[in-house]
Amino acid sequence: MAAMHPIGHKRVVASAAMPIDINPILGPGLELDEPSGSRSRSELLAALADAEALICLLGVSVDAELLDAAPKLKIVANFAVGTDNVDIAAATERGIVVTNTPDVLTEATADFAFALLLGCARRLRECDALARSGQWQGWRPDLLLGAAVHGKTLGIIGMGRIGRAVAARAAGFSMPVIGVGRESSTDRKSLLELASESDFVTLHCPLTPETRNIIDAEFLDHMKPTAFLINTARGGCVDEDALIDALDRGEIAGAGLDVFAAEPEIDERLRLSDKTLLAPHAASATTWARGQMATICATAVRDALAGDVPKTAVNR
Ligand code: GLV
Repeated sequence: MAAMHPIGHKRVVASAAMPIDINPILGPGLELDEPSGSRSRSELLAALADAEALICLLGVSVDAELLDAAPKLKIVANFAVGTDNVDIAAATERGIVVTNTPDVLTEATADFAFALLLGCARRLRECDALARSGQWQGWRPDLLLGAAVHGKTLGIIGMGRIGRAVAARAAGFSMPVIGVGRESSTDRKSLLELASESDFVTLHCPLTPETRNIIDAEFLDHMKPTAFLINTARGGCVDEDALIDALDRGEIAGAGLDVFAAEPEIDERLRLSDKTLLAPHAASATTWARGQMATICATAVRDALAGDVPKTAVNR
């Protein structure tokens, strides 16, 4: 159904409901078409027919098909710091600016990576289950023994803003850090050294052709049997079949996963494993961070439609 909108107003389509009211940021002249929940792909494509801006969640594949359905589009404001869901080359070819939401989710994501790390090491999922079960028989010296965190070595893949924020937290736990930056993330030798030396490995790289399945069977094979893998980056960075095999064979001790290869589907073997601690892509989910992400998207749309280059453009 074609929405009626005031003549002369530029139409801004959101793929899903925003966590805050962004109308005051968009200001007059921009008409926000925001669903109460989220739109299906076909609803989104239909809504884009006369849209000049799209604010979309990371589950939306912004590809040639979508861009072709939006002939008036000037900006894609991706509600995420990662832009792997956007075909940036296809957008650039069409003169469409793409923006992301850097910085504001750095600390929230680093906190959550550390929460998964601590939760895996100290078996929080099992602790919680036993405490709730009514079956707890009392304190015992051998009950739910976990792995120490303090002083253990942390391997960080991706030493950008989030990776560095995780390293800052590691300092508080006296953890030596082995960091592999983006530039050397395809250097197998440093990666495999990181795998062999780390007690915890945490991923903070974007998903690119170079980082797809960067955690593969060989990497997992180099990890210590007592080590844990933490992923708050993108599911596609981990070969999940290889991870499941490594967990089953005891090649690593466990995994804390916030992101999955085929979200929102999660491989049943990961869901049923007692060696995993799972979250539904929630690392940036603080009220503050999500509000700021919405603010950044709305600001980028306002600026782009006023003819300015948004500060958060990734394809200037
Ligand atoms: C979340 O995963 C993001 O990229 O912001």
